[in-house]
Amino acid sequence: MRVVKTIPDIRALRQKLNGTVGFVPTMGFLHEGHLALVKRAKVENPTVIVSIYVNPKQFGPKEDFGAYPRDLNRDLELLRRDGVDIVFVPSDDEMYPPEFSSWVDVERVTERLEGAIRPGHFRGVATVVAKLFNIIQPSRAYFGQKDAQQVAVIKRMVADLNMGTEVVVVPTVREGDGLAMSSRNIYLNPRERQAATILFKVLTLARQLRQSGEKDAEKIRRQMTSLIQEEPLAQIDYVSIAHAETLEELNSLDRPAVASLAVRIGKTRLIDNMPLE
Ligand code: PAJ
Repeated sequence: MRVVKTIPDIRALRQKLNGTVGFVPTMGFLHEGHLALVKRAKVENPTVIVSIYVNPKQFGPKEDFGAYPRDLNRDLELLRRDGVDIVFVPSDDEMYPPEFSSWVDVERVTERLEGAIRPGHFRGVATVVAKLFNIIQPSRAYFGQKDAQQVAVIKRMVADLNMGTEVVVVPTVREGDGLAMSSRNIYLNPRERQAATILFKVLTLARQLRQSGEKDAEKIRRQMTSLIQEEPLAQIDYVSIAHAETLEELNSLDRPAVASLAVRIGKTRLIDNMPLE
């Protein structure tokens, strides 16, 4: 496994590769969710490249950029075990030299949900992913359903800007009790960790209501909201039943929909979602 820090070095390696390249962008502190993307990429491509970069441009001024967990040696060991070929670990100066001034701004789909609460977040995500795609030129790039709005934003960007990379979406990997794996779960104390199971319970309720024939999105939102309110440690940021691609809120479940929510448990903000067939 090659660990590469500079853009010229990764470009030189990329040029020598034959066949498709599968690419998994990450911010490190890897868990089974990230590794599911790596394993899928490995099955579908002769070469797999992973990037580890905590992108400062997607964190707001009051967010956890400084505190974001990092453990590069452990990450590299996990990736080596999974047979990754190349790991790209750029520095901030490599990605954003002082004269940096260009941004990718995806409109509309970024204005709701996470975008409404975290202004500038998706501009940072789209910009870094566009840069990584330009640097690595992947045939396929792998993203988790865990971040449903991120998937919608990246798919919009790839279509609008005619990028030649196929976006592959991998189902959310969960702990035994349903909590979606996340690098931020380590912020939870034991009592909060227990309370965090409310997210999966609420999404399961939404799916059950849908499966039993409920088509009124507002009724589902209301039942989801009441269930969260039974957990005293949980504070709701949003509860949404939206169109799966545009993330516009739906009145009636007659189109592909995704139930999503953001909840603060103590100081930790958790997001999760579930597609509703
Ligand atoms: P990060 O949070 O490290 O996540 C990297 C990828 O892993 C994302 O596509 C995310 O959706 C996926 N992922 C995280 N938890 C998952 C889980 N439990 N199951 C399945 N997939 C999961 O998302 C980012 O980094 C950044 O925004 C990035 C795309 C790297 C741009 O900086």
